[in-house]
Amino acid sequence: MKVGVLGSGGMGESVIQHLKLCKDVSDIVALDVRAERIRQLKDKYQIKGTTNLRDILSDSAVKLVFVTASNDAHKALTLQALEADKAVMCEKPMANTLADAKAMVDEAERRKVFFQIGFECRYSKLYTKIKEWIDAGLLGQVVNTHCLYITSAREKASWRNKKALGGSMFGEKLSHYVDLPRWWIGSEVKDVFSVSSPNIMTYSEGHDNYHTTYRFKNGAVGHLTFMMGYAATFRGDPLQPNITDLQLGDGHKLRYIVVGTKGAAEADVFYRRIKRWQFGDAPDVMTSDWVENLTWDKKEDHFYYHNTTDQTHDIVKRVLTGQPPKTSARDAYETMRLSFAAEESADTGSIVSLDKMR
Ligand SMILES: NC(=O)c1ccc[n+]([C@@H]2O[C@H](COP(=O)([O-])OP(=O)(O)OC[C@H]3O[C@@H](n4cnc5c(N)ncnc54)[C@H](O)[C@@H]3O)[C@@H](O)[C@H]2O)c1
Repeated sequence: MKVGVLGSGGMGESVIQHLKLCKDVSDIVALDVRAERIRQLKDKYQIKGTTNLRDILSDSAVKLVFVTASNDAHKALTLQALEADKAVMCEKPMANTLADAKAMVDEAERRKVFFQIGFECRYSKLYTKIKEWIDAGLLGQVVNTHCLYITSAREKASWRNKKALGGSMFGEKLSHYVDLPRWWIGSEVKDVFSVSSPNIMTYSEGHDNYHTTYRFKNGAVGHLTFMMGYAATFRGDPLQPNITDLQLGDGHKLRYIVVGTKGAAEADVFYRRIKRWQFGDAPDVMTSDWVENLTWDKKEDHFYYHNTTDQTHDIVKRVLTGQPPKTSARDAYETMRLSFAAEESADTGSIVSLDKMR
């Protein structure tokens, strides 16, 4: 199968690397608005490349495209690809406005074309392990989740600092970390409240910190604390390609606590730990026993928290065999609704009901 990569910066290059390892992919064609970037990737990977989207969309051999351009370009690239009857994988956030995200899902559903969003945490072993425990009944009904995420400042020149290009921090970065509790809890969010202090990263147009609390329809609650800037400066993506030993204790934190009625789990990315507790009943107290303490090798970091490799390979397989997306775009849109609601709450200081986010 021939596959297109629409937007060939950092993420586009990662997808190209994953596709090169995929035996079902015979040809890759990369698109970017920067001709120099295309020349560089053609030389490095011996792939085809173009700066003209039409070259890819009019090529009937291209069955699948990955939309890995900056966020402002997602909607136009996706809609044109769907119109050309290509299966589409689009990176998160789907778009920079909820109305645009809805238009994309509606169009894919109307055309009955494959459309999956890049929530690779759902393929990553750290988080799938917790999902396995939940599905096996080991945690009971999940009632409470907490995510603590602290990272270093991003570069001043990044398009992510501009609202018109990057959208919000919630869409661009934190959508992953509210998508997971939705998946684990299996209920939809009712309302959300976020507060943000004035930025310390003053060159970012959007918020750089949040305390966000959200309630699910089934009574469960989730909380996310995010701060960007105080962890020791790390040039590049602190989560990619793997964690350096320096980051242990330098302020970087990415940790989940997931509490159910029968047990609890904790996932700590930077300390490479997944733990489980089992609750019981003694005459004098409700008991909790620490029953599992798993770790992984540094070489496996990518597969544990950022598994875009298996996500890419799975999408190729699904498109080839006519299967639907692993997670529907409609489901991903629910995560977008929550992300936009959390952002609106941070902007207005009010609790935002998801019913009004359509
Ligand atoms: N799922 C994840 O964990 C994850 C991680 C990193 C990035 N991403 C997503 O991947 C996307 C790209 O991020 P990145 O880090 O690669 O950014 P980047 O700046 O490295 O690359 C973006 C590329 O898109 C190109 N581009 C912009 N508009 C275009 C258009 N209309 N047509 C073709 N190319 C265009 C730019 O020239 C640039 O090369 C973003 O949506 C980002 O949110 C997701």
